[in-house]
Amino acid sequence: MLGEKLQDALNKQLNAELYSSYLYLSMCAYFQSINLKGFANWMYVQAQEELFHATKFFNYINDRGGRVILYKVEGPPTEWKSPQDVFKYTYEHEQKVTGLINDLVNLSKAESDHATNIFLQWFVTEQIEEETSANDILQKLKMIGEGGPGLFMIDQELAKRVFTMPASGEGSQDKG
Ligand code: FEO
Repeated sequence: MLGEKLQDALNKQLNAELYSSYLYLSMCAYFQSINLKGFANWMYVQAQEELFHATKFFNYINDRGGRVILYKVEGPPTEWKSPQDVFKYTYEHEQKVTGLINDLVNLSKAESDHATNIFLQWFVTEQIEEETSANDILQKLKMIGEGGPGLFMIDQELAKRVFTMPASGEGSQDKG
């Protein structure tokens, strides 16, 4: 059985993951609006991944006999200045999420909830990839500057990303 404090915190993280999905879907719409379909695809896959993260929290709270509470999901931003601006925002967002996961790990330790601590380890590892993939694209965008053939090439590359539903609940093969 989950303690009340951890249950509250896990429900808040479930909401944060849903917000992340909403945010990346909004970024997908932004890229569609400026006709960068590869970037839009990357964000669409990212939104699916976040929904998967949310589902993991949803199932875990239930599996531990807790009560899932679905809070209101805030509306995300809708406009950015450039692709580089979007990926700067994404990288910073993922750094914030890493902070939230770390706070949860600390709380699970303080509450001596070893099962939750083990459950959260998947997210600790996942966040390394989340930050790295966003920062990798950000650095490429910085290198090419605004627009030009470089942007087209990155768009082609990002068009290839696909979401693969993890077979064992251990995460997708193509992380973001
Ligand atoms: Fe759910 Fe992007 O971390």
